[in-house]
Amino acid sequence: MITVLRGPAATLVDDPFDKPSRACLDYHSDALVIVEDGVIRAFGPYAELRDAVPEGVEPVHYPDHLIVPGFIDAHVHYPQLQMIGAFGAQLLEWLDTYTFPAEQSFADAGHAARVAKLFLRELLRAGTTTAMVYCTVHPQSVEAFFAESERFNTRMIAGKVLMDRHAPAALLDTAQRGHDESLALIERWHGRGRQLYCVTPRFAPTSTEAQLEAAGALLKSRDGLFLQTHLCENPGEIEWVRELFPARASYLDVYAHAGLVGRRSMFGHGVHLHEDDFCTCHQSGAALAHCPTSNLFLGSGLFRLFEAVDPRRPVKVGLGTDVGAGTSLSKLQTLNEAYKVAAMAGHKLDAVQGLYLATLGGARALCLDDRLGRLAPGCEADICVLDPKATPLMEFRAGYCDSVEELLFMLMTLGDDRAVRATWVAGACVYDRARPGDPFLP
Ligand code: GUN
Ligand code: ZN
Repeated sequence: MITVLRGPAATLVDDPFDKPSRACLDYHSDALVIVEDGVIRAFGPYAELRDAVPEGVEPVHYPDHLIVPGFIDAHVHYPQLQMIGAFGAQLLEWLDTYTFPAEQSFADAGHAARVAKLFLRELLRAGTTTAMVYCTVHPQSVEAFFAESERFNTRMIAGKVLMDRHAPAALLDTAQRGHDESLALIERWHGRGRQLYCVTPRFAPTSTEAQLEAAGALLKSRDGLFLQTHLCENPGEIEWVRELFPARASYLDVYAHAGLVGRRSMFGHGVHLHEDDFCTCHQSGAALAHCPTSNLFLGSGLFRLFEAVDPRRPVKVGLGTDVGAGTSLSKLQTLNEAYKVAAMAGHKLDAVQGLYLATLGGARALCLDDRLGRLAPGCEADICVLDPKATPLMEFRAGYCDSVEELLFMLMTLGDDRAVRATWVAGACVYDRARPGDPFLP
């Protein structure tokens, strides 16, 4: 089956933290994206590709919009929707006061299904088509999430949280049970359709050495498995890890010792890393998730993005919303805060670099850039259609933008879910704000 999108379109073709931004953006004021069986077959100017559109196929036309690759969220907790924006605490107190009580409600599979349904729709409404997702310790929370993702055919990466200490009893597994439940979920979901599994020890303080080692064994049990956890987010947390693991050289070394630091590893936050940690990430191919709204909300600190991606030893970085410590599921709003965090360190995160973090950079951080993150032949047709005139202020401001870079920067400063006109997943339009009745399919 062939579908075609037409309109202004932009995609990254290279890394703007390594090369001049203008050389990294492929933009056409009138483009065609030709999609066959969920995969992009051609992308380029309308004038060049119009003859490639098969007879009888009418392009879906988005004039005055901007077609970009679907956004990638490198770090988010779906069970935390019910306590997003909880007042007044830093990380460890926030976990005890708000997070752990909320996560206990996911013992109820019905609750998990309801929240997974809302979460998937909110992601699509924000233009996000792939996310690396923490579920809870309950296998049914993973089941509910993948089942909902499968309905939309979204490419999602998720896993059961592993925790065998320092949390309420109702949220604890054991090293053995966590291993066995994870393995059963891997067998059921990893590689089923577009779903991928992620081994998910929450963070070092809530796992014993035995559990971290079991996570290392799980990671080796199948090809293409991912690893996600938290790293060096908050000074109190870092001090606690030092006390719990006195034999380890650093927080990252706790994970390295258990075999958890490799190409498909995604470490959330990394706010307080040292140069040797960046070197370890670079050498191992491990990635960091920059979560600016969360780091600001919990007062965790300012992630040193431009140090992380230093071309002399670049570390792969994705952009995470980290909801519910993060305050928005919108990648545009996340970029708004990422710009300000960079500005505090004297750097300028330009619009092309921003779009890179939210698309191709995220795909590279997840080792999925062979199929995600670009408008290019062979990539899966996950697409976000942005509306630069979504609000009266944006429409007014757009009239003063003289380039696609200015328009993109305006979108990442003023934009949020209102600026997403439509979201396409594997070549199907699953969300269209302008659709009468329910904007979501299915
Ligand atoms: N560290 C351990 N668990 C969490 C969590 O749920 N959110 C954040 N932001 N940090 C964590
Ligand atoms: Zn997190």
